[in-house]
Amino acid sequence: MGEHNDRKNSKDEQLDIFRTDDKGKELTTNQGLKVSEDEFSLKAGVRGPTLLEDFHFREKLTHFDHERIPERVVHARGFGVHGEFQLYKSMEKYTRAKFLQDTSRKTPVFVRFSTVNGSRGSADTVRDARGFATKFYTEEGNYDLVGNNIPVFFIQDAIKFPDLVHAFKPEPDNDIPQASTAHDTFWDFVANNQESAHMIMWIMSDRAIPRSFRMMEGFGVHTFRLVNEEGKAHFVKFHWKPILGTHSLVWDEARKLAGIDPDFHRNDLWGAIENGFFPEFELGVQILAEEDEFSLGFDILDATKIWPEEDIPVNIIGKMTLNRNVDNFFSETEQVAFHMGNVVPGIDFTNDPLLQGRLFSYLDTQLLRLGGPNFHEIPINRPVVPFHNNQREGFHRQTINIGKVSYHRNSLAGNTPSPVSPDKGGYATYQERVDGVKIRARSESFADHFSQATLFWNSMSPPEKMHIIEAFSFELSKVKSESVKQQVVDMFANVDMDLATAFAINIGAHPPARGGSAVTKSSPALSQENTIKSVQT
Ligand code: HEM
Repeated sequence: MGEHNDRKNSKDEQLDIFRTDDKGKELTTNQGLKVSEDEFSLKAGVRGPTLLEDFHFREKLTHFDHERIPERVVHARGFGVHGEFQLYKSMEKYTRAKFLQDTSRKTPVFVRFSTVNGSRGSADTVRDARGFATKFYTEEGNYDLVGNNIPVFFIQDAIKFPDLVHAFKPEPDNDIPQASTAHDTFWDFVANNQESAHMIMWIMSDRAIPRSFRMMEGFGVHTFRLVNEEGKAHFVKFHWKPILGTHSLVWDEARKLAGIDPDFHRNDLWGAIENGFFPEFELGVQILAEEDEFSLGFDILDATKIWPEEDIPVNIIGKMTLNRNVDNFFSETEQVAFHMGNVVPGIDFTNDPLLQGRLFSYLDTQLLRLGGPNFHEIPINRPVVPFHNNQREGFHRQTINIGKVSYHRNSLAGNTPSPVSPDKGGYATYQERVDGVKIRARSESFADHFSQATLFWNSMSPPEKMHIIEAFSFELSKVKSESVKQQVVDMFANVDMDLATAFAINIGAHPPARGGSAVTKSSPALSQENTIKSVQT
């Protein structure tokens, strides 16, 4: 703990205002009244009924009765830590974002790692994607990079997210199984939503059973935009690379650890930081010029696709060091609220239909989870810069806004938006031209679900391939429906015949017929002939 206490960053100093230590203090009610006794309720006689008059008893019990808030609808189980981010080289050429320009600046961060599927009390080492969400407390406001440890996603359009999660969570009749990919609805969803093929290959691989949060990559997944001072934009994919390297458990270890120490990843991260072994992650960017948008042979708006690193190298631009555990799990880890829409000037979105939907979903769910519109005032969510606007009132409002004016435009308060300039720093959305008819459809350019899944399989070493076959075999062996099992075999024949044949035999399904029997419930692959042009930083 020593080092960070010597040099408090701006977020740490802000949190000081809210910290309180009850040690050695006299007990009081919430109104500050010193209590003379805290063990016995007020009764009519020593054996008598408790009296309604007992405000002390009622306050204590009522607060306890209201301690729980809803767990996150996904990523319920997580673990948060504080740290700092520092740039290696300025990205001024690409972005106005000040925290990506100034190499001398240390930006405070809060990172929450999580599993996706399990409830708050589930085990750490289950087979699942892991969340990797980072809040940068920059001098231009909060920037949230809300990523996962897998670079692609199950679906292409956010309107399918409720279906995905309903299929993956425990089944609704009996709430079984907890945090598991081993059940009928999971695989039924996969086989009938074949855009999931690429993600499922990662989920069945060792990436879905990380050794430690300290040894995981992180990915922003979507294509975002960086926009520079001249208003010129480049497409970007964000990566976190762990300095300790990427390491996984093997399935036998993962299963045993889930029983022996369900908090394995929490213990590992907490202990490492307490002992001064601060986890470090380098931030990398893949950058693509706007004019090369259609040069990759797939659609860069499709979140089931990676940009091959051989073609577009990951340029390492800075490092994050996680150096402080939280003081209070609920106040910080549970109440933190990440949101894709928390951006700073110089970072912008694309039309990826998954990203567009996420921009709606996070704020919406947090209004419920954190009890109303003022959760930005909770200490962990506050920016380190002041906020001023005409929003007022609502449950749990803490700010005391002075004055009469709570509207724009006005002549009485003179509070105005900021111009878009380096010194004034106003945010302006990138002026992308959009054009089209209103239509509920998927672009044909999103139709290839298997090429990159096959690339992933082909990039695996023999032991890694064996682990993937074993994972499919284990997970599918729990499925009761023979039809669902067969659909999955037929689907993954599109990825690799040997893979599908191997696990088909293990689960007692029919191996796919060699020579073209692969069943696809999607459009055929697109041409991959286009050349790839990358931009070096
Ligand atoms: C958490 C929705 C896709 C990463 C959440 C939460 C919701 C949600 C409602 C709970 C937030 C809260 O209660 O604070 C969605 C929707 C998606 C989607 C609608 C697609 C349409 C993704 C993708 C990623 C991702 C593609 C990774 C790139 C995360 C992470 C968290 C999270 C890391 C946990 C944040 C934390 O630690 O508090 N998501 N999600 N999600 N999501 Fe997504």
